Amino acid sequence: MDLKDHIRGVPDFPKPGILFYDISTLLRNADAWQVAMGRLARIVGAYRPDVLAGVESRGFLLAAPLALKLGCGFVMLRKRGKLPGDTVGLNYDLEYGSDRIEIQSDAVTPGQRVVVVDDLLATGGTMAAGIALLKNVKAEVPAAIALIELGFLHGRDRLDVPFEALVRYD
Ligand code: PRP
Ligand code: MG
Repeated sequence: MDLKDHIRGVPDFPKPGILFYDISTLLRNADAWQVAMGRLARIVGAYRPDVLAGVESRGFLLAAPLALKLGCGFVMLRKRGKLPGDTVGLNYDLEYGSDRIEIQSDAVTPGQRVVVVDDLLATGGTMAAGIALLKNVKAEVPAAIALIELGFLHGRDRLDVPFEALVRYD
C-alpha cells in the first residue's frame, strides 16, 4: 500500500503558500492506519526502545498506540504549561511561529532507551527540541521517527540521532 494515497495535501493551510499534509484521512481509514502502524512498529522496534516519547499533539496519535503494540512505556512531550510537577522545557522555532515543549523531570529513568515519535518532520525544530529535552533528563535516544518527512526542508540535518520516516515529500 502506498500511504501517500491516504494523506491529503491541503493547500494554503494554515497560511497562504503552505501545503499542509493532513493525516486525518489516513487515520480514519482502518486499513491504512493498520498498515502505517505495522510499518512504524517494525522500524521503531528495531531500536529496542524501553519507552516511546510522543510529541503533542499529533505525535500522541501515533506514539501511544505504537508503545502499546511494542510493549513500551509512553511519555508525553507537551506544549507549555500542561504538565504538573517539576518540568524541563525548551523553546523552539516552528515552520510557522515558535513554541515551547516540556517534559516532566522524572519522566524517564536515566539510561532508558527512548525513541521520539511525531507525525511529521518539517524544519526539524520540534524533533530537535524533543531529543534535546530527553537527553537533558538523561534518556538514551537511539532514534527519532516520523510518519511524514518534508525532505525539502532538510529537518533531518538538525537532528543528532538517526531519523527514519515512512513517507517523504521532496
Ligand atoms: C507540527 C507537526 C510536528 C511539527 C513539525 O505540529 O505535528 O510536530 O509541526 O514542524 P517542525 O519540524 O518544523 O518543527 P504543530 O506544532 O503544528 O502542532 P500539533 O501537532 O499540535 O498539530
Ligand atoms: Mg505536532
